[in-house]
Amino acid sequence: MTRLSGITPSGPVHVGNYLGAIRRWAREGDPADLYFVSDLHAMTTPYHPQKLRGRTRELLAILIAAGIEPDTVFVQSDLLPQLGPLTWVLECACAFGEAARMTQFKEKSADRSHEGTPVRVGLFTYPVLMAADILLQGADEVPVGDDQAQHVELARVLARRFNGTYGEAFVVPRAVTPPAAARVRDLADATRKMDKSASDSAGVLFALDEPDLLRRKVKRAVTDSLARLEYRPDEQPGLANLLEILGACLDKSPREVVAGFSSYGEVKDAVAEAVIEELRPIRERTLELLADPTELDRIRAVGGARATGRGSHRLTTVLRLAGVA
Ligand code: TYM
Repeated sequence: MTRLSGITPSGPVHVGNYLGAIRRWAREGDPADLYFVSDLHAMTTPYHPQKLRGRTRELLAILIAAGIEPDTVFVQSDLLPQLGPLTWVLECACAFGEAARMTQFKEKSADRSHEGTPVRVGLFTYPVLMAADILLQGADEVPVGDDQAQHVELARVLARRFNGTYGEAFVVPRAVTPPAAARVRDLADATRKMDKSASDSAGVLFALDEPDLLRRKVKRAVTDSLARLEYRPDEQPGLANLLEILGACLDKSPREVVAGFSSYGEVKDAVAEAVIEELRPIRERTLELLADPTELDRIRAVGGARATGRGSHRLTTVLRLAGVA
């Protein structure tokens, strides 16, 4: 069984990415799996090439620092010669309406912070590139947070359609979402998910933030004035988010962790310390890896070669079935 998942260097990694995705990949990862930095996806909104290159390296280092087997990690753009043709084939299997229905496209294209800059066609078609990422490698399972499940569903639809129309080429993948911390929310506004590219990062706990900064951000987290120490996500979303983060760090349920606290301040102190302890080794190891560019380049090359080797046979089959090779 092959598991595959990716993460986009559209901003620094935050605790939602870590608890919802990276930590799980590190814990459950198998030598047959593939985890990658989806740098091509970061081009769907305005970006700086130099910053993108730096963030891609940083993210690669974080994945390895988090304990993911280095051989299973790669950078998406190293597979561009295969992903380009496959994305085109899949775009020709995807209905316009299917792409237009994607919630993330609707949200991001309506995002007011990008006002004045045109919405890129790449933002519209990127779920198809994501389908290519998944289908090229014949992934069976795609571990993602809630926000990406719809895109994996699209990959399933496209795989089935291609297989049914032109012949069996793809494994039909399925999304698997983590039981805890599937959607960590912004500490300053619990109606929003914690987002790498949020315009205001006051409520976003970045994996490489200094401990003091993490402490300050948690202290300022918005809760409520009910003074009720219970886990009630609908009525007390801010507190519930803190309890979910704490629970995920301690491998307990939010209901379990809420018992024993007598004030919101105590909850916040516990969250800050748990997050700091969870992130400390990753931060240290990431900084070490970034200080050794030769080793990081070597790891990148090995992972890229492995992923390219895996995908080439399937791409040849797909192009032949599609009548273009
Ligand atoms: P990205 O970079 O937005 O997110 C990476 C992973 O982190 C999860 N995640 C969260 N989990 C909990 N709480 C949050 N607030 C939160 N924000 C993000 C996401 O669900 C995801 O699992 N398009 C994808 C990357 C990608 C990909 C793929 C994934 C590219 N190709 C193929 C799977 C398969 C993305 O931008 O994820």
